[in-house]
Amino acid sequence: MRSQVEALVKELEIMKEEGITHVSLDPLLLESLESVLVPRASEVSYIETDEPAIARKPLQTRSRNRAGPSVFENVMNELDPAQSRGSRKSPPKVKAKSDVSSVLPDPPTIHLPKGSKVERWNWLKERVKGCETCKGQVKSGMQVVFGVGNLDAELFLCGEAPGADEEVQGEPFVGPAGQLLNKILATAGWTREQVYIGNIMNWRPDTGATFGNRPPTDEELQFCLPYLKAQLEIIQPKVILALGKTAVKGLVSPNRTVTMGQVHGKWHEFEGIPVMPTYHPSYLLHNNTSRAKRAVWEDILLVMEKLEKPISERQRGFFL
Ligand code: URA
Repeated sequence: MRSQVEALVKELEIMKEEGITHVSLDPLLLESLESVLVPRASEVSYIETDEPAIARKPLQTRSRNRAGPSVFENVMNELDPAQSRGSRKSPPKVKAKSDVSSVLPDPPTIHLPKGSKVERWNWLKERVKGCETCKGQVKSGMQVVFGVGNLDAELFLCGEAPGADEEVQGEPFVGPAGQLLNKILATAGWTREQVYIGNIMNWRPDTGATFGNRPPTDEELQFCLPYLKAQLEIIQPKVILALGKTAVKGLVSPNRTVTMGQVHGKWHEFEGIPVMPTYHPSYLLHNNTSRAKRAVWEDILLVMEKLEKPISERQRGFFL
């Protein structure tokens, strides 16, 4: 296996030299590659798997649901005209590097004031928007991004960090991943206004370049975590949906070798609140397969069950 992997890595290196930055791999192959590569991740610094493959359990037949495509599925097609030709190309990915983030102070200690939810949330929002460290990480003209939504929400969605659109608009999940997230929510019967949407990070991690995103460093994540905890303390949701690896790292396990395949589809807990990890919507934008969509959808069904939300037969069958 090792020599086969080395041959594959060589091939990838050649392709990289030829200017190919992304390849499409079968999710199961990716998962098995990851199990071989992760223990020696330090040796393979050029390989950065954003999200691992989906291998929770054998999924049932791939036949299209006769009831027709869901809203979620339609939007995947709308957002991704490359759907019929296969996977969409990923944007350039940048590794979390210590040289692109400055040394941060100790994480803040947040003591929420007494008062109504609205008063406490407004206080916290001002505190985050005024946070000198957060502002210091944001490029000129861009914004620190705080959570939005229903302060009485049962469901709290936690993403990674603002991207290019979010830091312009000052709101989480307003770019393509956000549009897809809205459609996933709609497919489950929620509007964006009924849930609360936040991020691990309050700022877009600097890549040192004008393009691309990178996951936050541990230090960045730890700095922002108290702000997220304070939002959870105010909202007191019944369930957290952790979107992607960074959310898993902050809420479920700091262990970088933990894969989404290992944690999604199972309940975890953060500060006493049930957490369901699932793949990030941007992962779906780049891995637009029925299998990936079904894996996310099964996680959403578990969340709906937990929140005792009625589920129709049609909903149960999406992406099978
Ligand atoms: N991705 C995230 O994780 N959060 C956002 O707000 C936008 C994209």
